[in-house]
Amino acid sequence: MTASRGLKIGFLGLGHMGAPMAANLIKAGHDVLAFDPVPAAQEQARKDGATVVDSAAAAARDRDLVITMLPNGKLVLDVYAELLPAAAPDTLFIDCSTIDVADAKAAAVLAIGAGHRALDAPVSGGVAGAAAGTLTFMVGGGAADFAAALPVLEVMGAKVVHCGGSGVGQAAKICNNMLLGISMIGLSEALVLGEKLGLSHQSFFDVVSTASGQSWALTSYCPVPGPVPASPANNDYRPGFATALMNKDLGLAANALRDNGIDGQLGLLAAEIYNRFNQTDAGRDFSAIVTDIRDRSDREGV
Ligand SMILES: NC(=O)c1ccc[n+]([C@@H]2O[C@H](COP(=O)([O-])OP(=O)(O)OC[C@H]3O[C@@H](n4cnc5c(N)ncnc54)[C@H](O)[C@@H]3O)[C@@H](O)[C@H]2O)c1
Repeated sequence: MTASRGLKIGFLGLGHMGAPMAANLIKAGHDVLAFDPVPAAQEQARKDGATVVDSAAAAARDRDLVITMLPNGKLVLDVYAELLPAAAPDTLFIDCSTIDVADAKAAAVLAIGAGHRALDAPVSGGVAGAAAGTLTFMVGGGAADFAAALPVLEVMGAKVVHCGGSGVGQAAKICNNMLLGISMIGLSEALVLGEKLGLSHQSFFDVVSTASGQSWALTSYCPVPGPVPASPANNDYRPGFATALMNKDLGLAANALRDNGIDGQLGLLAAEIYNRFNQTDAGRDFSAIVTDIRDRSDREGV
């Protein structure tokens, strides 16, 4: 399976991310059998040139590789139970969903046990990256399977990193997003403290962006309007990266901290803080946490 065009691909999960990813595979000359239970998603996939089938199993028959882009780990494992018996021996399964490390490892064990090959390949870059074909893929699995998947992943992404064995792609994703959640909260607390002490946002930015408190959250994604014009703060906190997704990823990170006995106090606290914020503001960008910290400080005077 070395061809970079004309591969037979099964694609399951044609939502915000999966639909444009599948469309890019079709544009690159691959033959895509697609399945999603939602009629509107099926309709869009047909328009994009996919052959839409009426069951998960049908999307896995006679394919070189099968890609899943689903909401959670339970669904991935359920769908694998349908896909694996239907696929030809030695099919390469690539799960691009963001799921628990433990579920990713379990999915790979199931696939390999059924005579197939498996990679976890979660992404960052969001819907815009999926549409533009500029996602970053973080891949876990064997070197030969990574090499086989690379030409296909490069159609959908600008950067593809082999992170290690099964589950280690998911590990890279949740470690990064845990750090991002923690740093966004820390930055937001510092900004609100600065406000109270009479420090303008621009002065804060001018100092901290070149000092030891510097972070990507500040220099590329500043959570207050002004210093970084393209950040969601300048657009009424429209995502961007929605709070619901940050909340999901921090939940996965918290599970991994607990499962592995890590003393991750900030990771667990960040998960708690975003879980609370998610109850009221799931659809806003995750950087809007600064408004929550400001409001709670004004209200509670803590
Ligand atoms: N949206 C983002 O910005 C983003 C960024 C990075 C990673 N992710 C991850 O990518 C994954 C997908 O995210 P999304 O935003 O596209 O979600 P989504 O909810 O828009 O899409 C998921 C799709 O899976 C379909 N589905 C459910 N059960 C199915 C089944 N049995 N067979 C086939 N399809 C089925 C749903 O109908 C839906 O269309 C998630 O794991 C998410 O965490 C999302």
